[in-house]
Amino acid sequence: MFEKFKPTPADPIIKLIDLYNKDPRPDKIDVGIGVFKDAQGQTPIMQAVRTAETQLHRRQTTKAYVGLAGDETFNRRIIDLIFGETAAKDRIRGVQTPGGCGALRMLSDMLFRIASDRTIWVSDPTWGNHYPIFRQTGFRIDTYPYLNRQTRTVDEAALLSKLATLDSNDIVVLHGCCHNPSGAELSHEAWDEIARLCTKRGFFPFIDLAYQGFGDSLEKDVYGIRRLTENVESMVVASSCSKNFGLYRERVGCALLLGETPLQADIAKGHILSAARSSYSMPPDHGAALVSLILSDETLRQQWEGELTGMRNRILNLRKRLSDTLRERTGNNDWNFIADHRGMFSLLVLDQGQTERLIKEFGIYSVAGGRINIAGLRNDRQITGFADALMAVSG
Ligand code: LMR
Repeated sequence: MFEKFKPTPADPIIKLIDLYNKDPRPDKIDVGIGVFKDAQGQTPIMQAVRTAETQLHRRQTTKAYVGLAGDETFNRRIIDLIFGETAAKDRIRGVQTPGGCGALRMLSDMLFRIASDRTIWVSDPTWGNHYPIFRQTGFRIDTYPYLNRQTRTVDEAALLSKLATLDSNDIVVLHGCCHNPSGAELSHEAWDEIARLCTKRGFFPFIDLAYQGFGDSLEKDVYGIRRLTENVESMVVASSCSKNFGLYRERVGCALLLGETPLQADIAKGHILSAARSSYSMPPDHGAALVSLILSDETLRQQWEGELTGMRNRILNLRKRLSDTLRERTGNNDWNFIADHRGMFSLLVLDQGQTERLIKEFGIYSVAGGRINIAGLRNDRQITGFADALMAVSG
């Protein structure tokens, strides 16, 4: 049977974990996979999560199934966190999923049932895993312009003129904040224009929100989503708690939808549930139960927000230090974009030869194209080491 298989190509992000772990050099640097790290290179369990785990351990009386939609309190808390106070609340539904990937896939499967002839548009570039997820569902995928690779800022003019040509045959995937891989953010004006174009042209917005709170703040990072909610009749949002709660391995996500009416929202939610039933059936409980506890308890919530602010500030500080160091090395402002970017990543726009040299000669592991996870730089020694290596391969 299995002799028919050809080996699959390794996922470019996942394979870096293995390569890095096997590298014996003590001064190696991991700026690959998107996992937050502190100054010791650890991915800590947040204190709010630890306390919630203790409480959960005391309170939980059963491990029986929670249900296809997962924990409905969790779903409501995530809706509040993302959408805030909005008149559209009665048209929004949420389904707990195994991670943000689970949310992306379930929303994609739900949409395919009624929109299999539509094209899904992703940004150029986008997170590598968007392609297999949407392709596996069955969608045709195309790209819209996003990054100006010279300035490493968003080419908003090109993006908006492309979106202006799309219509009700199209689904547009947008990163809610902290664009992965580029780090380049849409301005508020661009989000306003996208919301206007959605209504005018009729394309369907599909938002991937994996880093809420890692950019500027929990509230500011959802500016675009809230703008769209005020303007469009329907849309979907795939959210993840991997990063902002540090719950990576617990697989906590939420598939959210805004329907034209409360009834249509209920029916569409039913289709996510049936897609889930035919896939993993019911989501894992533990991580979502922790998020639910944290977001329902004022003290825990404040503690969590404080810790999240600490993580964000560490990244912003590292961005500034790296960009300052590169300005000193080069005598120009070419790398200032690193300080302006938001979230965990910056795409440096390196070619394959350069990223291979970074690994081979300097033990620095970045994702193809030169995507670096800023939080992977532990301290000033690593920042200067990284800057020197970058200069060597860029020269
Ligand atoms: C990343 O982009 O590195 C993260 O989202 C982790 C992953 O699964 O790729």
